[in-house]
Amino acid sequence: MNKLQRLLQNKILILTICAAGIGGTFQYGYNISIINAPASYIQTFMNTTWLERTGVPLESNVILLLWSFTVSAYPLGGLTGAVVAGPMAIMLGRKMSLLLNNVFVIIAAALSGFSRMAKSFEMIMLSRFFTGMNAGVSMNIQPMYLAESAPKKLRGAVALTSASFTALGLVLGQVVGLRELLGREESWPFLLASNVVPALIQLTALPWFPESPRYLLIDRGDKESCISALQKLRGTSDLSAELEEMLAEQAAVKGQRAKNPWELFQNPSLRWQLVSIVVLSSAMQLCGNDSMYSYAAYVFQEAGIPRDKIPYVVIGTGSCELITSVTCVRLLMHSADTQPLVTVWRLLNMIIDYAGQRPLLLGGYIFMAGWAIVFMVALSQQTQISWMPYLSMACIFAYILSFGIGPAGVTGVLPTEIFDQMSRPAAYMICGSLLWFNLFLVGTAFPFIVKSLAHFCYIPFLVVCVCTALYVGFFLPETKGKSFLEISEEFKKRNFKTKTRAGFYKGPEEIKTTTL
Ligand SMILES: *[C@@H]1O[C@H](CO)[C@@H](O)[C@H](O)[C@H]1NC(C)=O
Repeated sequence: MNKLQRLLQNKILILTICAAGIGGTFQYGYNISIINAPASYIQTFMNTTWLERTGVPLESNVILLLWSFTVSAYPLGGLTGAVVAGPMAIMLGRKMSLLLNNVFVIIAAALSGFSRMAKSFEMIMLSRFFTGMNAGVSMNIQPMYLAESAPKKLRGAVALTSASFTALGLVLGQVVGLRELLGREESWPFLLASNVVPALIQLTALPWFPESPRYLLIDRGDKESCISALQKLRGTSDLSAELEEMLAEQAAVKGQRAKNPWELFQNPSLRWQLVSIVVLSSAMQLCGNDSMYSYAAYVFQEAGIPRDKIPYVVIGTGSCELITSVTCVRLLMHSADTQPLVTVWRLLNMIIDYAGQRPLLLGGYIFMAGWAIVFMVALSQQTQISWMPYLSMACIFAYILSFGIGPAGVTGVLPTEIFDQMSRPAAYMICGSLLWFNLFLVGTAFPFIVKSLAHFCYIPFLVVCVCTALYVGFFLPETKGKSFLEISEEFKKRNFKTKTRAGFYKGPEEIKTTTL
């Protein structure tokens, strides 16, 4: 049966996904994009507040620094949120954590909403920190909650909805930030505080849906609540097969303990796996894709797009992300071994089947490096040649699409493929922390990079893309179509190279014959 049909059969599950997504990863995307439109108004606000307080205006360098702090408070909050998410999910449960998480947004909305009245730009920074905390918690817990609530066959499709909600939030944030809605100078506090709306929607909707059945059974040992939650989610009372599987899992993890991140670092047999996810998840942020969003308006302005047209072009980039999230979704479905939903996906499926994940990563980063070069050439020539601004704009779109088709989808699946069950949560924790840390790094550094390198501001990102492509080309084994066992064999060869040279080496043919 078609995946979509099966999904539609299950209304409660869909509504649960929506209720979790609206206050979850939707907020991540929404809050990344709403800060762009009022950037110059808030900078003016900082200047005038300072002038009123001290009698002297701020220098433009200082304003830039304060603005960097404001932008960076978001990923710093996210990092904090990612760290508290684990204990929160275990102690309070998945649903309760998501509900409680909205408190952070309500505090944040109150702070930013009243910041102008209180004449305090510090309140905006604090508000961004709490907003980030909310996103950090939900980015970790929402996928866990949904994956645990979904039936096994739908798990891949359900997990990918998190990416779609992020993209939806991104585009909606850009639309709300238009001058026609909340993007005018006088309405920026309302724009920043508008993230309270999704939080309120989640607070009223999510309590009606059940807690993760797996959490109830395995963490809590509460079989009755688990059964009633399952009945609600599946809309049927025939649950014996699923329940059996959960009980087996409960028995299997008894006495075992998930590894913590530190243990991963100490284990020599996991060295190259760890290096691979550290390199690739860092590259996700450091390749400059997200700063394309954070500073899209800024880049377009530099690119010579008329000021009043910029917001619409920015919405275009958001839609690009939506398209790529569909790709992402498809890639995840592919990894979950499911039937493609639509023809476009089927086509992509064929390409991936033909190419494999390693060439996708490699191609993605090589294309991005190429576009970065064209982008910088176009930026530097825009005063000489009239159509250059449009070329640089096209480069931004091409850059985001190259990212979405390759790295965006594959990187997220990688920890699942190269780590075993007990190491996986720790691996995701490392990836999550890297995500927020690098978002912080890029957010803080980018304005200064733009200032000092001007038209050549993409050189650092170019370097990252080239280095990552080299790493993928020389060190990353192909994972496509291989079992977890075969993948770990590949890594074993790399982790114990000295021993394999001394005579334990198995060629790829030999591995193939032994597994056949
Ligand atoms: C800050 O405000 C002063 C006084 O209104 C103004 O002269 C100055 O240009 C402003 N600085 C910036 C960077 O906007």
